[in-house]
Amino acid sequence: MNDLLTQIEHARSTIAAHTSIVPRIAIILGSGLSALADDLDDPVVIPYAAIPGFLPTTVIGHPGELVIGMLEGQPVAVMRGRFHFYEGHSMQQVTFPVRVLHTLGCTTLLATNAAGGLHADWHIGDLMLITDHIFLPGLAGHHPLRGPNDERLGPRFPAMVGAYDRELLALARGAADRLGILLREGVYLMLSGPAFESGAELRMCRLLGADVVGMSTVSEVVVARHMGMRCMGLSLITNLALPDGPPANHLEVLDAGEAARPKIAALIRSVLAHIDRAATTPTSPDRP
Ligand code: HPA
Repeated sequence: MNDLLTQIEHARSTIAAHTSIVPRIAIILGSGLSALADDLDDPVVIPYAAIPGFLPTTVIGHPGELVIGMLEGQPVAVMRGRFHFYEGHSMQQVTFPVRVLHTLGCTTLLATNAAGGLHADWHIGDLMLITDHIFLPGLAGHHPLRGPNDERLGPRFPAMVGAYDRELLALARGAADRLGILLREGVYLMLSGPAFESGAELRMCRLLGADVVGMSTVSEVVVARHMGMRCMGLSLITNLALPDGPPANHLEVLDAGEAARPKIAALIRSVLAHIDRAATTPTSPDRP
């Protein structure tokens, strides 16, 4: 009765009762980036508190609403705010909304986040297209797919090579070109947080091959890939995370999000405007 599929269905039917739109693209808006949800046509706003299994958000800059509507002619479900492992939730709780949005009809996930840039010559406000990830909490055992696997959701051992969809990456590059936006590319390393990293930890992240660090997104992408969703990830560099640089703080993260809002909004809108039906068709999670 209380198995994961039942919980997902409970949340799905609650959301579906609010709107006749069947969203195809799920968009998760990270710290300071939630304003994009204001741009939707025919929006229906559902507070997380009204959706069973969705948690209250506790972080400033993460409002806690699901907005369903149309953006660039695409039916989208936009999460204004996400759940974080560092808030004390399990990885399964953190990723529950992705399960629900997939069941609702979403076959594509566009995840955005605030991240610390690990390169001294990058700048606050730069955007980075995520080409790959390192899931440090997952590798250490905090993995959302740990435990019994329900084959109706996805395979026991989903592949994560090629997790970031090649066609979506090409669309994002094309959109950046058209808009004249500098779009960096690289590897996002997820840490559990909530403390920002020490200097030695930042040096370790560089040695591991990461370009940015953050506290979200990867767990969501792993679960999305488990279900065969196509994924794209976009990081806003809100601070430079350098071993010898000034310490990061949450307010600068939010300020950078506000300043970069038009750039991110334009990029996401352009990707949506050019996404075709093929890009919203699910792919096999074990054959990326
Ligand atoms: N570290 C981890 N997470 C972050 C950072 C950072 O420097 N900036 C934004 N999210």
